[in-house]
Amino acid sequence: MALKEEIEKRKTFAIISHPDAGKTTLTEKFLLFGGAIQTAGAVKSNKIKKTAASDFMEIERQRGISVATSVMSFEYKGHLINLLDTPGHKDFAEDTYRTLTAVDSVILVVDSANGVEEQTKKLTEVCRMRDTPIIIFVNKLDLEGRDPFDLLEELESSLNISVRPLTWPINKGKEFKGVYNLHEKHLNLFEVNKTKVSDDVLSFSNLEDPELDKLLGADADQLREDVELIDGVYDRFEREPYAKGQVAPVFFGSAVNNFGVKELLDLFIDIAPTPLPRESNKGPVSPEQKDFSGFIFKIHANLDPNHRDRIAFLRICSGKFERNKFFQHTRLNKKLRFSSPYSFLAREKSVIDEAYPGDVIGLYDTGNFKIGDTLSEGDEFQFQGIPSFSPEIFREVINTDPMKSKQLEKGVRQLTDEGVAQLFIQQPGSKKIIGTVGELQFEVIKYRLNHEYGASCDLVHRSFHKACWITTDNKEQLDDFMRIKAAEVALDKDDNPVFLAPSAWMLQMAEEGYPDLKFHVTSEFKTAQEA
Ligand code: G4P
Repeated sequence: MALKEEIEKRKTFAIISHPDAGKTTLTEKFLLFGGAIQTAGAVKSNKIKKTAASDFMEIERQRGISVATSVMSFEYKGHLINLLDTPGHKDFAEDTYRTLTAVDSVILVVDSANGVEEQTKKLTEVCRMRDTPIIIFVNKLDLEGRDPFDLLEELESSLNISVRPLTWPINKGKEFKGVYNLHEKHLNLFEVNKTKVSDDVLSFSNLEDPELDKLLGADADQLREDVELIDGVYDRFEREPYAKGQVAPVFFGSAVNNFGVKELLDLFIDIAPTPLPRESNKGPVSPEQKDFSGFIFKIHANLDPNHRDRIAFLRICSGKFERNKFFQHTRLNKKLRFSSPYSFLAREKSVIDEAYPGDVIGLYDTGNFKIGDTLSEGDEFQFQGIPSFSPEIFREVINTDPMKSKQLEKGVRQLTDEGVAQLFIQQPGSKKIIGTVGELQFEVIKYRLNHEYGASCDLVHRSFHKACWITTDNKEQLDDFMRIKAAEVALDKDDNPVFLAPSAWMLQMAEEGYPDLKFHVTSEFKTAQEA
């Protein structure tokens, strides 16, 4: 098949949600549709259990299993769908942010009773940075949830995106009757636990049809009223604003009952983008470009001492990846080839000979890769758009075994290259500050430094509010700031200056006191608020 056809066949996306909204359940239903799994529960068993929150080894063990579900590829209606898994546990939110740099669109699951939650906001903000197209699935309609109009209003106001409902729920909770498809003008009546996938929908192009009253009783009039209101309030759904990440189509359903899922998947197939061009330091790279290119967005290290392998996940952006062919590693200026790259079709890990834009493959890594590295063929360049995000918790690394300083140094560098945490170096004395989004990573780091590098350390709490990357054209003002605020500035892994702001107020003071300096909570992008 020609490169263009391979590209047009592929859709690479992630399902995101606040924990418990139904991401795992929806993932599983999608895989059932795609025939990639036969039994319900197969994905669920890989999920990090909430109860294990204090037992990180258990979480790591489960994370080990979850390598197999990092990418779930399946075919549906002639398309090849790459579904990238994102960890549900909030302490691994940074893994999720990074995975979002490797997808072309997302489906956001929202719990109809809880509406927009903390993680929903954070994840959407990350998507908005690259204008990633979003489809929203409002889940758990079988439970007593909120009024759908209120939910839509909340989605718009707190996620900073316009919405357009494409299906509409008829009542909710115990009285939930089904959804009306506003797009296709048909009615899908609710059944609990739809195990079989059917197309039995009733066409109702005219909602005045008295048949509707027979089916829905008093809810028929409510539906007529709602539809009239929706048509009056919301613009017609158009693909372009969706593709630009400006308008999110909204579906209602119940993932656990497999209800409303097929409508969602069918529309996804229809409108979700195929692999898109990516920004690099030498301009946009089109997927149709003949020369291969891709970037590393995730590295998974095996904690099992008998299997010390690392797997680097590569998103292919252009051309064709081939097994055993030499490619250029831009940062190291080195040629590398891979004898056993693997893909994840139908959840089977298998060695592949070639892969195309949109695909994600696993590469065995002996320490060559850092998150964000580019591999290419032909022209040398570096992909952009794989930012670091401000951590939320900070600790200073204090060596407790002076005989093992070198091991500690190496361990901290390697673990932070893998993306377990972020490293900031403070002068004088090259103090190492590590930052994470969750407490769990600190346990992981201490354990791994000890077991893999023989180093031991204390991690001492530092109360910073945010890490803010500084940009400016005014070098003098920057030097001045770095000198005066020496106790609160540091350099990141690439030697970029960072302000470790002690509080929101101090950040504001810095912004006022140094008007030529710009402070960003991500290393590369402006956030939606900053834009
Ligand atoms: P997550 O990955 O976003 O964290 O959520 P997950 O799919 O695990 O779903 C969280 C809980 O919500 C699960 O219940 C799941 O069964 C339930 N759920 C998902 N979709 C629906 C729905 O449409 N309606 C209702 N009523 N519940 C739904 P659990 O008790 O945590 O797990 P389980 O024992 O049921 O598997």
